[in-house]
Amino acid sequence: MRNSMYKLIGVLIILSFVLVACAPADEPAPQEPAPGDNNAQQPADGIAGLAMTNRISEEWKQSGKMFAVPSVAAREACAVACHDGYAFSTGEFTDPEQFDEEGMHFVGIDCQSCHSGTGQELMDTGLVSVPFADEEIQAGTGALCITCHHGRRDTRAIYEEYEGGGATRFSYPHYGPAALTTGMGGVEYPDVEYGHTPAHGELENTCLTCHMPQTADGYRDHTFQMDEQYAGQTCGGCHSGITDWNLNGFQDQVQEWVSQLEEAIFEETGSVYISSGGGQLIFYADEARTETLTPDQVSLEAFIAAYNVYLIRTEGSWGVHNPAYTRSLLQESYRALTGDELQ
Ligand code: HEC
Ligand code: HEC
Ligand code: HEC
Ligand code: HEC
Repeated sequence: MRNSMYKLIGVLIILSFVLVACAPADEPAPQEPAPGDNNAQQPADGIAGLAMTNRISEEWKQSGKMFAVPSVAAREACAVACHDGYAFSTGEFTDPEQFDEEGMHFVGIDCQSCHSGTGQELMDTGLVSVPFADEEIQAGTGALCITCHHGRRDTRAIYEEYEGGGATRFSYPHYGPAALTTGMGGVEYPDVEYGHTPAHGELENTCLTCHMPQTADGYRDHTFQMDEQYAGQTCGGCHSGITDWNLNGFQDQVQEWVSQLEEAIFEETGSVYISSGGGQLIFYADEARTETLTPDQVSLEAFIAAYNVYLIRTEGSWGVHNPAYTRSLLQESYRALTGDELQ
């Protein structure tokens, strides 16, 4: 009895394969996409095709990436590395001298910058080099963002150069969120253990996970900016109930620490303001910002503190990119400079 039932099931299964294989080939063709709709793979509850492209284009226009900065886009190294979208994606630089003034053209970080050539390759491999580590780092699609947003300095070399008394200028961090997310890009004392918040820095697609959240319409936001309406979606899985970025007042705390460290630098060096210009940090020694200090007038500890304070003041997240690393970069800088702890 049992045996014959198994046989019957077997026959039914074979029959069903045969029936599927013999199904008529003239099934109705999938519906033609509507005119102008170049993407038939519309998600069930989202938008696609031109509607999505239009939305993304509008977002991109708010991103701060649509214009190139001519002064840097005109220099080959800066253009190819980050500052001209066409030079970045193709590696081809055209000297602006070859154009008369009207023909001169620079390209912002536009669609093709990220979606073709170098940009696309970075997303595909997920690997990116940074100057402060010997090996490439694995960053998922965020490798694309990191290639331009990593601070551009080998901070280990900077330490050695300054410690050896060989520095002729003050290196400065070139706007480096990834110097923090990686937990490696501040100037560190070689004998000190620094904190790290891997939960933030090692999210699967690093930068993208926070900066390009999935919109309600089913595509990734292209303003690249942090919008608090996504706080629950982006951070809530780990910080339940979060509604803004200033979790536990941490961003306020970091601003307070930055002020304390700056005060300590001013006290130790006699400078009154720290800024950057001409590719280096500048310690201004007078309110009118005419007098500046030179490397022989600034101790190693004061320089390290200034580099790190400037990094954290300009990278844009007030510590969120790596809370533990931010805390320890500021704390260790302060301790070495003053012998005290930050309050
Ligand atoms: C080819 C280089 C390049 C790539 C790739 C790139 N950026 Fe940018 N990003 C820039 C430049 C250049 C600016 C504008 C800064 C300026 O020149 O004023 C900018 C601006 C920004 C800003 C606005 C900052 C502000 O102060 O308003 C954010 C946020 C940002 N980028 C995030 C990202 C994220 C996230 C990614 C990855 C999806 C990314 N960027 C990829 C070069 C790049
Ligand atoms: C854990 C989430 C998270 C990750 C990962 C992350 N960011 Fe951010 N980012 C933030 C938050 C939060 C802010 C602060 C926004 C605010 O205070 O308005 C910020 C600020 C910034 C700013 C300054 C924005 C501005 O308008 O001035 C830039 C630029 C930036 N991030 C780029 C990056 C890049 C590049 C990466 C990858 C290396 C990255 N971020 C990774 C959460 C994140
Ligand atoms: C700074 C880099 C950058 C720029 C500029 C950029 N994109 Fe994207 N775009 C991305 C990244 C990163 C993704 C996500 C890729 C992934 O998830 O694999 C993406 C995804 C997309 C997607 C797929 C949407 C989705 O989430 O399914 C489309 C379509 C798109 N971009 C179109 C555009 C258009 C059109 C422009 C210009 C108006 C543009 N992008 C500009 C980085 C960029
Ligand atoms: C994958 C989980 C995860 C995600 C996603 C995440 N965090 Fe965190 N976050 C952590 C962990 C774990 C810590 C504690 C690490 C530490 O103190 O070193 C932390 C610490 C923090 C801190 C320091 C808080 C304090 O009191 O010291 C802030 C601020 C913070 N996160 C903000 C955010 C924001 C804003 C987002 C979203 C943009 C976010 N986090 C997304 C896991 C996450």
